[in-house]
Amino acid sequence: MRGRVRCAVFPVAGLGTRFLPATKTVPKEMLPVVDRPLIQYAVDEAIDAGCDTLVFVTNRYKHAVADYFDKAYELEQKLERAGKSELLAMIRDVLPRHVRAVFVTQAEALGLGHAVLCARPVVGEQPFAVLLPDDLIWNRGKGATRQLVELAERESASVIAVQDVPIEQTRSYGIVATRGGGTSSEIGAIVEKPKPEDAPSTLAVVGRYVLSPRIFELLAHTRPGAGGEIQLTDGIAALLAEDRVLAHRFEGRRFDCGSRIGLIEATLRYALEDPGLREAAKALMREALAEG
Ligand code: UTP
Repeated sequence: MRGRVRCAVFPVAGLGTRFLPATKTVPKEMLPVVDRPLIQYAVDEAIDAGCDTLVFVTNRYKHAVADYFDKAYELEQKLERAGKSELLAMIRDVLPRHVRAVFVTQAEALGLGHAVLCARPVVGEQPFAVLLPDDLIWNRGKGATRQLVELAERESASVIAVQDVPIEQTRSYGIVATRGGGTSSEIGAIVEKPKPEDAPSTLAVVGRYVLSPRIFELLAHTRPGAGGEIQLTDGIAALLAEDRVLAHRFEGRRFDCGSRIGLIEATLRYALEDPGLREAAKALMREALAEG
């Protein structure tokens, strides 16, 4: 796998059933952590990693994601007239000028693997990143995607972000078996959501990948697997048979914002990190705990 990683794919066409009824009209990726939607955190991470083409795989109901990255004429005029230059810059700069956003529709929610395959006409024959915005990863140093991109470019290999999880949680993740330990190691096998007794390890795949374009051809021939969906895990399993794929234990803290408790945890943590909110948030938390 050769070439620079410039494309980032955001599969955001899932149904988000765990957040119903909110997700009946608001896509999961538009749920905020403090004052920014999840998608903005993921986009910033991809841009920080050097990506300048962002491919959003959406469904036909998710206008909110495209609207968010579009110009908001009326709002901009209002803020301009009111002299609110800081807010104006904030809404104008959701995407820097050198970055282009491309929207692709996944007509039916046929699975994450299928959603990634939908990005093929835009990505073409170059290595690319995939970010699942409901995995929010916070780090003081390099962002998780930058860590993966640097390793992928240095090793000319696909790279997947992994994290140790408690054994009883293996059925919620793709689980990898690696050859050797350390921060980065070659993946020998990958299984989708195994029962704890069948799991080859407790190393779980989280929502950041850098993949060889070869995956597209493999996904095109992947049959529906678990849950009747075309699984990205199955495509990666096929890639392993012909190419080197590395697992990388990224630096950073991950919040599973696809679950209600994960979104709550992220909100509390980000509030504590915000100098303008920190003290008030602490006081509220203490008060809430004291009341039991
Ligand atoms: P999830 O497994 O979290 O599914 O998808 P979901 O539909 O978003 O949420 P729940 O489980 O019903 O609450 C993982 C990622 O894959 C995308 C989702 O948008 C999410 O980013 N995805 C999944 C697609 O883009 N298309 C699909 O067909 C399935």
